[in-house]
Amino acid sequence: MSDKFRIIGGGRLLGEVHVGGAKNSVLKLMAATLLAEGTFTISNVPDIADVEIMSDLLTRMGCTVTHTGSAVSITVPAAPLHRADYDLVRKMRASINVLGPLVARVGEAEVALPGGDAIGPRPLDLHIRGLEALGATAKIEHGFVVAKAPNGLTGARIDLDFPSVGATENVMTAAVLAKGTTVIDNAAREPDVVDVGEFLNAMGAKISGLGTSTITIEGVEKLHPADHATLPDRIIAGTWAFAAAITQGDITVRGANPDHLEIPFEKLTSAGAIITTAEDGFRVRMESRAHAVDVATLPYPGFPTDLQPMIIAMNATADGNSIVTENVFEGRFMFVNELGRLGADIHVEGHHASIKGVTQLSGAPVVATDIRAGVGLVLAGLVADGETIVEDAFHIDRGFPGFAEALCALGANVERI
Ligand code: EPZ
Repeated sequence: MSDKFRIIGGGRLLGEVHVGGAKNSVLKLMAATLLAEGTFTISNVPDIADVEIMSDLLTRMGCTVTHTGSAVSITVPAAPLHRADYDLVRKMRASINVLGPLVARVGEAEVALPGGDAIGPRPLDLHIRGLEALGATAKIEHGFVVAKAPNGLTGARIDLDFPSVGATENVMTAAVLAKGTTVIDNAAREPDVVDVGEFLNAMGAKISGLGTSTITIEGVEKLHPADHATLPDRIIAGTWAFAAAITQGDITVRGANPDHLEIPFEKLTSAGAIITTAEDGFRVRMESRAHAVDVATLPYPGFPTDLQPMIIAMNATADGNSIVTENVFEGRFMFVNELGRLGADIHVEGHHASIKGVTQLSGAPVVATDIRAGVGLVLAGLVADGETIVEDAFHIDRGFPGFAEALCALGANVERI
């Protein structure tokens, strides 16, 4: 796949898009199948590179993975291999989510330290401390997390310093087979975490409190396969909402759940967007230049860090000044430097980006540093004067299926070169 997007700015995005399954759920659903022997079918699977990487990882562990359309069937053996190789894990952060299931199911795991998005250090201390609280030993050796629980896991009370999505998922997928009860306090509330928890319950786990800050897991002896439909990708759905706002367009988004976008919709409405619910989704219209809006990113239900580049792109061409505060990933402002090359007037001070809205950006070559930054740059290119080239667009393919094609269907002048 060529990895550059060429965008000629101008024109509003008009029409309808369909959103598929959530990247940040499906990868964990696939990892969680390691917890039981047998065959699972996961549907509404997005066609993204990360799903291929997770499929390869599971295959290396002895699973059989087959794709039919937007469903994935996974057959898990009696004893999966417990080692996740570096060449795959380095490409994708979510590989770390095989850690909990492997320790719970086979009593040990060797998972290479993950790579993935360059949005700041991606520590694993909360994952490791959580597994240790359940009675595992876990340490980092030669670039691998090596975790062992030869005598099984025991339920415990775990208080997360930060409501980490990944740590909540790893602890939850380990605790389901522990002896006794586990309580996770300050747990992540993201819909993706709820989706994984509901899948585990369908497999016979006993989890309550999903979507709240306190998740209780009663350990069970054994789990069984289950089928599951991945929840809609709220970040992609939210991205289309900002695309409509930035281009003063009118987009109907199908296959999405507007309830997962409450705060982003509040921000878009104060920017002047008209948002109405539609059958199986919602519609976003913007009939004049956006007003600038301040925002601080926070764990769910706060404004998601994954939509931060999109609201910055909107504020960069909005009427007025705004402050965007990034509280989740400190490295996420790298995107701002690239946006500056398109003429955005943004000043970064620590966790804060002060933005002065300009009336017109001008096209230039820029580089995508992660999935969401890449998408943000494409959206900015849609309203920049002339040609914008977004390089390293492979980042976008990792998390956003068919982005260029969908943009063209909405009237944008975008092509891969
Ligand atoms: C998940 O990452 C998502 N990735 C991210 O989406 C998303 O931005 C993030 O959650 C927050 O919603 C996947 O689900 C694959 P965290 P994750 O653990 O689990 C700190 C995208 O573009 N932390 O909630 O890694 C960490 O440094 C990606 O789709 C620790 O300090 O996020 C960060 O500051 C980008 N110690 C904060 O918590 C730990 O052990 C949030 O991280 C773990 C995390």
